[in-house]
Amino acid sequence: MDVVHSFSDLRRIRSSLSSPIGLVPTMGFLHEGHLSLVDLARDQNSSVITTIYVNPTQFGPHEDLEAYPRDIPRDLNLLEERGVDLVWIPNNEDMYPPGFQTWVTVDDVTKPLEGNMRPGHFRGVTTIVAKLFIALQPDKAYFGQKDAQQVVVLRRMVKDLNFPIEIVVAPIIREPDGLAMSSRNVYLNTSERQAATVLSKALKTAEEAFADGNHDADQLRGLVSRIITSESLADLQYVSCADMETLDELTGEISSGLLSLAVYFGKTRLIDNILLGV
Ligand code: PAJ
Repeated sequence: MDVVHSFSDLRRIRSSLSSPIGLVPTMGFLHEGHLSLVDLARDQNSSVITTIYVNPTQFGPHEDLEAYPRDIPRDLNLLEERGVDLVWIPNNEDMYPPGFQTWVTVDDVTKPLEGNMRPGHFRGVTTIVAKLFIALQPDKAYFGQKDAQQVVVLRRMVKDLNFPIEIVVAPIIREPDGLAMSSRNVYLNTSERQAATVLSKALKTAEEAFADGNHDADQLRGLVSRIITSESLADLQYVSCADMETLDELTGEISSGLLSLAVYFGKTRLIDNILLGV
């Protein structure tokens, strides 16, 4: 496994990789969610590239950029075990040269949900992912359904900019008690960690209600928000039941939808979601 930092080393090693090439972009502090993407990429490609970069531009001024957990030696061991060919750990100076002022922005689908709560977040995500795509030119790129809106936004970007790259989406990997794996779960104290199981419980209850014939978007949102607010340590930011492609909020009878939420436990903000009717 090669590990490179600079653009010049990257170009040299990238050109020696055999195609098809699968790319798994990450911010590091890897868990089985990230590694499931690596495994999928390994199965479907001749070469696998993983990037580790805590991208500063996708964090708001009051978010956890400084505190974001990092452990590069551990990440490299895990990636080596999973058979990754090349790890790129870009330098800030390469990704954002002094005077940087060129951005990739996606319009409507970045406005609701996470985009509404985290202004500027998706501009950072689309810009960095576009830069990774241009530098690495993978055949396929792997993203988790955990960040459902990120997937919608990146699919739109790939279509609109005609990137010849297939976006592959992998299911959410969860802890045994249902909590979606996230690098941010390490921020939770013991009682918050226990309380956080309410997210997947609430989504699962709504999924069962949908399977039992309750297809009313407003009732499903209401059901989820009642369960979340019954947990005293949970501070609900939003519950959404939206169109899976446009992310427009749905009302009344639905045949499918993206049920998603964001909830604070203390200072830790967690997101989770479930697809209905697919
Ligand atoms: P990061 O949060 O490190 O996540 C990297 C990838 O792992 C994303 O595609 C995310 O959806 C996926 N992932 C995280 N937790 C998961 C889980 N429990 N199950 C399945 N997949 C999971 O997302 C980012 O980084 C950044 O925004 C990035 C795309 C790298 C751009 O900076």
